[in-house]
Formats: sequence, structure tokens, C-alpha cells
Amino acid sequence: MPRSAILNVMVQAAMKAGRSLARDFGEVQNLQVSLKGPGDFVSQADHKAEEIIHAELSRARPGYAFLMEERGEVSGEDDQHRWIVDPLDGTTNFLHGLPIFSISIGLERQGQIVAGVIYNPAMDELYTAERGGGAFMNDRRLRVASRTKLTDTVIGTGVPHLGRGHHGNYLIELRNVMAEVSGVRRLGSAALDLAYVAAGRMDGFWEHALSPWDMAAGILMIREAGGFVSDPAGGNGMFESGSIVAGNEIIHRALLKTLKKPLVPR
Ligand code: IPD
Ligand code: CA
Ligand code: CA
Ligand code: CA
Repeated sequence: MPRSAILNVMVQAAMKAGRSLARDFGEVQNLQVSLKGPGDFVSQADHKAEEIIHAELSRARPGYAFLMEERGEVSGEDDQHRWIVDPLDGTTNFLHGLPIFSISIGLERQGQIVAGVIYNPAMDELYTAERGGGAFMNDRRLRVASRTKLTDTVIGTGVPHLGRGHHGNYLIELRNVMAEVSGVRRLGSAALDLAYVAAGRMDGFWEHALSPWDMAAGILMIREAGGFVSDPAGGNGMFESGSIVAGNEIIHRALLKTLKKPLVPR
């Protein structure tokens, strides 16, 4: 399927930032690192990748607004379009030499996500999606996994890091999900987690305290791969709540139900 001009712009920006991340990953011990809060690191690599993406996207589409993890909101004259960018999703993995990290770029038009790119430079895996045009990994069409019994599934999640332990029910949710599924995974890049659900590598995913830049591209990716995404109440408030639940239609529904349960004694 040929990519639209706008998706090509996003792919070029992600690949260029990916080359910068790959270089920095090779000498991670020399990078300047600072703390944004407890357990919340940012490095020169994050800033460099963000700079590249900002430059590429604003050159191709001057006037579009941005929401970027490190720069925050950047307004533009065009109030119809907004880029939502995480220049390095999985900074903690990156700084530990774990090759599970990604770049995530989403494009919103009139408040709707219309295109998304997630790129893992360490594995050279490029995920793309356009609204109504399907989702792809390196040109292979994606489809969410078809398993329908929770006991057969592998479910991804995000464990709150130091300073983010405030989601009161998380340990109860984790206990209950663990009791019902075949395995739980914590990969450390929410954008990749969502791409993996789209690719059928994981059957479902849930996490709290995320930001729009972690989710924008991934939400579209999963929906375009035939999957379902919502907040824990089943609504569309992922950006507002920071919480997301995803899977195929049946697993998504089953996860929503499990996440609502009180602590089930074992
Ligand atoms: C983090 C990753 C991680 C998730 C955290 C995010 P960052 O993003 O997506 O998987 O659990 O909540 O903040 O900070 O590495 O871009
Ligand atoms: Ca971060
Ligand atoms: Ca992130
Ligand atoms: Ca980030």
C-alpha cells in the first residue's frame, strides 16, 4: 500500500531521529542525563531526537502545532493540525542498554488521530498507520491477535516507576490479571507495547499515568489493525485519564471486566 505524502514525512522524521538514537545508544555511557523527577530520566539523546523531529516536521508542514514530551505544547497558526511526539519512548531502557525503545509520532486533525508512526531503531522495525488505510510493520499488514480466551493470552502492562506509585488499584489489577492470563509482560516502552498489540505479538495491554505522546500513534495503530482501545471505563478518554486498555474485541472486553474486579482471594 503506497504511503500518503504526510505519512512519508512522518516516516522520514522518525528514521532520521532513529539514526541519532542508534548512534547515542552505542555510547550511552557518555550521554548527559538529568532527572525530571524521581525515577524520571531525560538525556541528551531524547533532546537531540526531539530537535530532529521538530525540525523535519515543521519544515514539511509549517504552522502545525506540536505536543512533544520535552518541549511541551508548541502552538502554530494552523489550529486544525497537531503533531503528538515522543522522541524516545523507553528512556530508562535506553540508558540501561536495553534495546527496547521507540520513537512515536502521531498526527491529529481536528482532534482526531489520522496518522501514526512508531519506530524501533534497534530492531529496525517501522510501524505505520493511517486512518482508514490499515496498519503496517515494514510494509506487512498488521492484524491484532485472534485469541479469545484470557487463559491463552500474553498481556502487556506498565509498572509505575519510582515517584509514580500513586495509582492505588494497580497492584490489585496486576494480581487479578496475573491470575487469569497465560503471562504478563512489562517491556518499558508504551508506544512499542501498543505497536505489539497491533502486530498480534501481545494479546492486550493496560497502563495508567501515560501521556498523549505515549499513546497517540499506538491507538490508531491498534484500531487500524482491527483492535479495540479505550479508557478503563470503556470510553475514549485515554488522553484525559492517562489510562488505556487494549486488545481484540473479546480480550479488550474481558480485560475491562478483570480490571474492575476487587482483589480476588487466591
Ligand atoms: C515511559 C515508557 C514506559 C511507561 C512510562 C512512560 P518515556 O515513557 O512509555 O513504558 O511505563 O509510564 O513514561 O518517559 O520513556 O518516554
Ligand atoms: Ca520521559
Ligand atoms: Ca513515553
Ligand atoms: Ca520519552
